[in-house]
Amino acid sequence: MLIDSGSPGAVGTIGITLTINGERRALQVAPWTTLLDLLRERLDLTGTKKGCDHGQCGACTVLVNGTRINSCLTLAVMKDGAEITTVEGLATLARREGKNSLHPIQEAFVEHDAFQCGYCTPGQLCSSVGLMNEGHAKTRDEIREAMSGNICRCGAYTNIVDAIEEVMHQGDAR
Ligand code: FES
Ligand code: FES
Repeated sequence: MLIDSGSPGAVGTIGITLTINGERRALQVAPWTTLLDLLRERLDLTGTKKGCDHGQCGACTVLVNGTRINSCLTLAVMKDGAEITTVEGLATLARREGKNSLHPIQEAFVEHDAFQCGYCTPGQLCSSVGLMNEGHAKTRDEIREAMSGNICRCGAYTNIVDAIEEVMHQGDAR
């Protein structure tokens, strides 16, 4: 449940500006509001999932200035001025690069059957893009290691690695 009222100038709230999926938003937030709750409860961006709410499952992963983070562990006020990309914005990111539909990693997940129930998938997708932005993982083992913070209860790991490997080798991360 989101605790802050969100009304401009409400007592105890702080004004921040975020660019979320390409759209600049001015927001009043209570200082204790997590980025995850802001996205889900206030902005209706429910693609980002709350799994553990303790930084242990990766379901809440989003990109902040291109870097993946657990949004459940991040206070919204700490990201004032940042650019946030959620799963809803991955296609927007792709369009900025002149592509017309889904982000290549989304297409690869579909192609490789890299999800079952889909609950972990938004976090897996954002984390995959973050991993490719980092540019450290080169092999399957390194992809597995770098994705180890994203838990999949359905066990779709092999196909997730297949999908990431394909896009990574196309050099099509963003
Ligand atoms: S909900 Fe954030 S890591 Fe699990
Ligand atoms: S696809 Fe079900 S939890 Fe990952």
